[in-house]
Amino acid sequence: MKITVIGAGYVGLVSGVCLASKGHQVICVDVRKEIVNCLNSGTPHIFENHLENLLQTVVNDKLFSATTDLNRALENSDLVLIAVGTPSLNGKIDLGQMKMVSNQIGKFLRKSDKFLAIVVKSTVVPSTTDSLIKDIIESESEKKLGDFGLGMNPEFLREGNAIDDFMNPDRIVIGFEDFRTKNLLNQLYDNWNCQKLFVNSRTAEMIKYANNTLLACLISMNNELSNLSSTVGDIDYLDVIDGISSDNRWSPTINNEKIYPSIISYFTPGAGFGGSCFPKDVQAIRTLGESLGLNMNMSNSILNVNDNQPDVALRKIENSPLASKSVLFLGLSFKPNTDDIRESSSIKILNLLLSRDYNIIAHDPIAVKNTKKEVQNTRLKFTVDWKSEIKNNDIVIIGTNWEEYKKLTSILGEEKSKKLIIDCKRLLDSSEIKYHHYSTYGK
Ligand code: UGA
Repeated sequence: MKITVIGAGYVGLVSGVCLASKGHQVICVDVRKEIVNCLNSGTPHIFENHLENLLQTVVNDKLFSATTDLNRALENSDLVLIAVGTPSLNGKIDLGQMKMVSNQIGKFLRKSDKFLAIVVKSTVVPSTTDSLIKDIIESESEKKLGDFGLGMNPEFLREGNAIDDFMNPDRIVIGFEDFRTKNLLNQLYDNWNCQKLFVNSRTAEMIKYANNTLLACLISMNNELSNLSSTVGDIDYLDVIDGISSDNRWSPTINNEKIYPSIISYFTPGAGFGGSCFPKDVQAIRTLGESLGLNMNMSNSILNVNDNQPDVALRKIENSPLASKSVLFLGLSFKPNTDDIRESSSIKILNLLLSRDYNIIAHDPIAVKNTKKEVQNTRLKFTVDWKSEIKNNDIVIIGTNWEEYKKLTSILGEEKSKKLIIDCKRLLDSSEIKYHHYSTYGK
């Protein structure tokens, strides 16, 4: 099938490259000329595991190309996926780019006789596709739904795992407003052997938000209970998790074997969720509900608990007997295997410490460049060799659970001066850290 993907951001690029790898002919449209040039030479402008190899393959196979020329792409397509950004603006999603693109598609359709299915892939609040987008396209094209197709196909990609998530999804949600679009989307994913759910666009939009809000809720609820556990004292919340997760409803026994689903990892206490999705999505759903006169108590609480979690790390440092102000900070990205620092709890803790005159030397395998753009402070320095910095700093904070920081345990075993270790991700095994003072969430 011939497809245009509008927006070469994280969602658009991963979707376009993966669809091309399954034999579809994909043109990716972006207004940024420099990014278009990079993509055509096989170089992605974002870091994502396996993306570069796959992009090079589909560019070489002439199944994927990028352009700034939207009209030319639309002329050569049966279906268009809109994957432009919907950033957060005062707790709402900013639909500026969505409106602009819908406007351009409408104008194209006014002059064209072809049937084009327009499918929203960006995360938009329920009823955006079947009202706002539809209205703009109808008014700009002077046509009616049916002359063009409309649908909504949310993504469930996790950063760092996005290619695998796209290629091997748990399910594909196909929201549609007309049967031609339903059939085209069905054909698009013909090669994907997983459950497909056919719903209307607003249900598809709601599935995406409900999914992320529930995951965020699990994190905040467990963080609240783990804060309570450590305040009561002598409770390790990881033991509590063992107790909860052995309930058959979380971990069913299949063929005499107990299965621990990955959802249980969302119980782990820590400095709170971040990234470009959970905070933005819960805020947007709260704002939507409030604008409709609802009391969004749960969404409010999820966000309030999350906002408080970075302070927990600060209090641990300030309540320790150590008077030192020198910190080695390990991990800046919002989670491992990404250079994304948006809403990262590490950056929030870093800023709290800088506002209290701590001197910080920070490390991250790939997120330093983004951090330098975001946080400028003469008391913040960076290192590529974190192991050699341990001896120079009295406080070591693990902000992101990069695998390599597990080596800290053995290095600390050799270290003679007493350190304060703040583990914001429950990465280390506390029983292996004998001499130093180890402090973490939920213990
Ligand atoms: C999330 C969802 O998991 C995806 O299904 C969804 O497609 C995506 O948002 C999106 O809306 O685009 P992502 O933000 O990449 O994906 O990352 P997650 O791995 O879910 O992590 C989100 C946050 O939760 C991170 O801050 C992470 O540290 C935190 N988290 C994650 C935990 O605190 N504990 C965990 O066990 C897992």
